[in-house]
Amino acid sequence: MLRISLLRLLGRTGLSRGLCLQDSRLRHYSSCPLGARDDAQDARAYFTTPIFYVNAAPHIGHLYSALLADALCRYRRLRVPSAAATRFSTGTDEHGLKIQQAAATAGLAPAELCDQVSAQFQQLFREASISSTDFIRTTEARHRVAVQHFWGVLKARGLLYKGLYEGWYCASDECFLPEAKVTRQPGPSGDLCPVSLESGHPVSWTKEENYIFRLSQFREPLQRWLRGDPRAITPEPFHHAVLQWLEEELPDLSVSRRSSHLHWGIPVPGDDSQTIYVWLDALVNYLTVIGYPNAEFKSWWPTTSHIIGKDILKFHAIYWPALLLGAGMSPPHRIYVHSHWTVCGQKMSKSLGNVVDPRSCLDRYTVDGFRYFLLRQGVPHWDCDYYDEKVVKLLDSELADALGGLLNRCTAKRINPSGTYPAFCTTCFPSEPGLVGPSVRAQAEDYALVSAVATLPKQVADHYDNFQIYKALEAVSSCVRQTNGFVQRHAPWKLNWQSPVDAPWLGTVLHVALECLRVFGTLLQPVTPSLADKLLSRLGVSATERGLGELYFLPRFHGHPCPFEGRRLGSETGLLFPRLDQSRAWLLKAHRT
Ligand code: MSP
Repeated sequence: MLRISLLRLLGRTGLSRGLCLQDSRLRHYSSCPLGARDDAQDARAYFTTPIFYVNAAPHIGHLYSALLADALCRYRRLRVPSAAATRFSTGTDEHGLKIQQAAATAGLAPAELCDQVSAQFQQLFREASISSTDFIRTTEARHRVAVQHFWGVLKARGLLYKGLYEGWYCASDECFLPEAKVTRQPGPSGDLCPVSLESGHPVSWTKEENYIFRLSQFREPLQRWLRGDPRAITPEPFHHAVLQWLEEELPDLSVSRRSSHLHWGIPVPGDDSQTIYVWLDALVNYLTVIGYPNAEFKSWWPTTSHIIGKDILKFHAIYWPALLLGAGMSPPHRIYVHSHWTVCGQKMSKSLGNVVDPRSCLDRYTVDGFRYFLLRQGVPHWDCDYYDEKVVKLLDSELADALGGLLNRCTAKRINPSGTYPAFCTTCFPSEPGLVGPSVRAQAEDYALVSAVATLPKQVADHYDNFQIYKALEAVSSCVRQTNGFVQRHAPWKLNWQSPVDAPWLGTVLHVALECLRVFGTLLQPVTPSLADKLLSRLGVSATERGLGELYFLPRFHGHPCPFEGRRLGSETGLLFPRLDQSRAWLLKAHRT
């Protein structure tokens, strides 16, 4: 496994968003099932996104977090179709100083701001086809019950004490900072102001009596957990980063603020003078969704997979598991970590005016197009840079030309006048390579194609399991290219259906290419659900034939019957993905206005 320098991995160049990562705040298709502890078909899996701050409108980074979780979850549903087996939650993080201050700046009551921005997240996720089963808002009554109950459990187990907290607090990052993590920078009036070294956000001095969680007691249990489960945090470099942090100092954690200072939050049970720290409040959302404190949560909790950005790794991989262990529960099953999107090389920020609005991207590039772009280009362990030209280039080449072109070549009336899935001829394409004979037409490269597509589902499964969705898409795209090469090599447009010599081979070429397309369409469902539906419908693949369990590629090659052979194709519904650069003039115009 690539060992990446920690600093580079976690992006401590001012390009990445408020990291606070160092010390600051603290059948054969799947080798290993995603989000489930065993391979039982009825095993449950619970996926979560982070809950999103409502201080500002959503941007493409937020959508990316949600899309990764959505793709993992949709992939899992393809593997385990039972609707009851998979749960997927997202939501909004609505308490805390950051929101309290944003509402004051906007001249709104905090609840009004929360309603407005939470609705924007909900609308974006609907439009982007995020298939969540639950949406939680931390201002809901059910959540207050869960947080206060969780607090009570920690208290009863002797893990909370009252003490004096003195130090820096960063409201933007909602975290405490040691002196070593604070620097001075000229503020708007030219005076030097204290800011977080990592995020550059302003910090203020805090001295107050708070409730404190005995985090320091959890170093060894956390180390045992991570050493005993090397895949707990994926990709591996992040797992390694957390183990390194656990070698450093692990002070107890302040988990409340004076209510006179922070009123927008959940009061500490039995002590209204204190408000529960927003991160404790926020993390418990994962339990609220599954019914905590009612016993039903127990059937979901051990199967939890959190999808998070690298900036919130410490909260999820140290504070949260320690709080859970403290409350007598197990740490999450998996934590999948991703990096950030920058824009033209810069961190996205309101003040730089470079925030990319995800809704206009969905309009411009289509929902499936933009989903494909973010997931194909986003690499979990590196930051990725966004610019519009990159989107157009990628989508035109991979979706419009390569995939759309391939479908068109195999289904167009000119080449496939009967509009069916033609028969496969075993004498033209014998299962054993190297055979010679008058009717054998397959060449060595054709066997390489069959072998590549046959192993593609397993490769894709492994990539999903390693949280490398971009690699799964890369593998599909490479097979699409290979299939186009196959069609090009045998030029079906030069073969004649009327010729008894050509016809069986022509049918075979189309049959193989359609089978490849069926595999691609099936595997693309988690990323481009509508486009995959259009593709599979055009091939005549019914809704019950689209799961991974049904994905038996080219059975005729192995001497088995193919249920699709001779079947009528679905109706023609236009281009699979129209090229974008033809609408470029419109795009540039839209940019100028
Ligand atoms: N509210 C906390 C999370 C609490 S979870 C118990 C929070 N919210 S956030 O709105 O700031 O971030 C939500 C998610 O968006 C995080 O996973 C974060 O990493 C992700 N992103 C925010 N900016 C991003 C980019 N520029 N690029 C990719 N993802 C980014 O943190």
